[in-house]
Amino acid sequence: MKFMLDTVNLDKIRYYQSILPLAGVTSNPSIIKKEGKIDFYAHLKKIKEIIGSADLHVQVVGKLQEEIEKDAQDIVDHLGKETFIKIPVNEEGLAAIKSLKSKEFKVTATAIYTEFQAYLAIAAGADYLAPYYNRMENLNINAADVIYAMAEEIKRSSSPTEILAASFKNVNQVNQACRNGAQAITASPDIFEQALTMPAIQKAVTDFHDDWRETFATEKIYEL
Ligand code: G3P
Repeated sequence: MKFMLDTVNLDKIRYYQSILPLAGVTSNPSIIKKEGKIDFYAHLKKIKEIIGSADLHVQVVGKLQEEIEKDAQDIVDHLGKETFIKIPVNEEGLAAIKSLKSKEFKVTATAIYTEFQAYLAIAAGADYLAPYYNRMENLNINAADVIYAMAEEIKRSSSPTEILAASFKNVNQVNQACRNGAQAITASPDIFEQALTMPAIQKAVTDFHDDWRETFATEKIYEL
């Protein structure tokens, strides 16, 4: 599994970069908005400095194919050809994905709510598919089934495309995405916090620590 952070908050990225086996950072214009009116490319360059060789996925803003392709060129001009360009899968987006893949851009097909969008993006050569787990559930779409069908299509077509599941509101949704064939997930820092700061884990750590201290007083296994 690849684990990515769905945030552009520098403090959070710095913090979790030191904790997680971090494969990348993803964003979209709504995530960017949370940081206020930042100097966009300067900010993203700081993220690149923090994450080193991990991947950066940056979303286009343009709506028409021509605008999307212009955004994509601008992004790689500033951030490098290795940057994944996130493009929503609608008519204009799919046309842009097809065109950009013929020019060897790296593409993450995003805003995926249905398996049919995914089948089209796979056929167009997208590197990653980003299905929106929680948003699908809000629409009464079975997100786990959609991801399973996407994974089956990738196998059936021997495609190099990978599933980068996104839009999570709890850890169980992440587990279901992984079980059903996602090769990667991106989640906001609070999902990783939920997973790693469960009271039961901390209780186990405290109990083990206390049992050692009760048995061996202040002796440590090793001296710092
Ligand atoms: O990366 C796409 C994802 O961030 C959408 O998440 O929480 O806005 O549904 P959300």
